[in-house]
Parts: sequence; C-alpha cells; structure tokens
Amino acid sequence: MLTNKEILRVAKLNKSFGDLHVLKDIDLAVDESDVVVLIGASGSGKSTLLRCLNFLEFKDNGAIYLEDEKIEKETHNLNQVRQRIGMVFQHFNLFPHKTVLENIIEAPIHVKKYLRNKQLKKGKPYWTKSDLVTNMMYIHRHCLEVKNNV
Ligand SMILES: Nc1ncnc2c1ncn2[C@@H]1O[C@H](COP(=O)(O)OP(=O)(O)OP(=O)(O)O)[C@@H](O)[C@H]1O
Ligand SMILES: [Mg+2]
Repeated sequence: MLTNKEILRVAKLNKSFGDLHVLKDIDLAVDESDVVVLIGASGSGKSTLLRCLNFLEFKDNGAIYLEDEKIEKETHNLNQVRQRIGMVFQHFNLFPHKTVLENIIEAPIHVKKYLRNKQLKKGKPYWTKSDLVTNMMYIHRHCLEVKNNV
C-alpha cells in the first residue's frame, strides 16, 4: 500500500567549498515509496547533496529532517543516523575481494551484529531483485575471477 508519510525533508540547505557555492537554498521532500531522481550537469552538486544528507559533508546552514526529527551533527550519533539513510557510492565502492552476496551482507553483520548465516539467506532475494543486477553480476564474475586468479 502506498503512503504519503514524509521520510526526508531538506529546508534551505547551503554548502560551499571555499568560494564555490555548490548548494543554494535546496528544498526537498521525499515521501515513503517515492523514487526521486536528481538530474544535473556534472559538477552541479548532486553528490554533494547526498553526502550532506548522510553527513559525509557538513552543510553550512539549512535543516535536514529524517522522519520529522531534525538531525544535527552536534546532537546526534551520526553512525546511528547513517543506519537510517544509506547511500550507494558512485562507483559502488564494493569490496573487490568479496562476492556480491558477501558485499550485501557485510553491513548487517558488522554494523547491526546480525548472524552471518541468517543474512546469507536474507541477502539472496535482494541480489536478484535489483535493476543493478547486471552491473553486480559483472562485478561478481570479476570477483570470482580475481579470487580464482583467472
Ligand atoms: N571536497 C570538495 N572540496 C572542494 N570542492 C568540491 C569537493 N567536493 C565537491 N567539490 C566541487 O563541488 C562541485 C559539485 O561536485 P559534485 O561532486 O557534488 O557534483 P555532481 O553533480 O555529483 O557531479 P557528477 O555528475 O560528475 O557526479 C564541483 O565543482 C566539485 O569540484
Ligand atoms: Mg556525483
């Protein structure tokens, strides 16, 4: 069932690198089940926005709300915040010595302390679900080749 519950809101967010004012008064609202696409020229600030949302970069001013909770680096445990808002890096940043499945289950095991065997079972459906599967399969093959020294 689709809901209109707002899960993320950004208000008047600004970020500069020196004299370069990359994000200018950005407003954004994302509801649960929304699929949102950021489109813009290379260098226009898409990654910077995502990095600010995940607190890998710190905004200069503006507000970020996660499920109505205003998140601030001074008052929140950012590692816990990042468990509620994840990102896939531009070049996936997978561990090349691990298979796709091992990459998928890495965070639940090490961050959430979930059991490896349970995650192996849980991870498999995600592996086949995503549209990223073509890229992932390539990486998986590559990982196997590296592992097997092909
Ligand atoms: N840590 C940084 N220090 C200085 N400048 C930065 C830093 N990170 C990004 N920039 C600059 O901020 C601008 C926005 O970069 P960003 O990577 O957010 O763009 P993008 O829209 O994601 O581009 P692309 O489509 O190529 O991924 C660029 O001019 C970039 O050089
Ligand atoms: Mg980018």
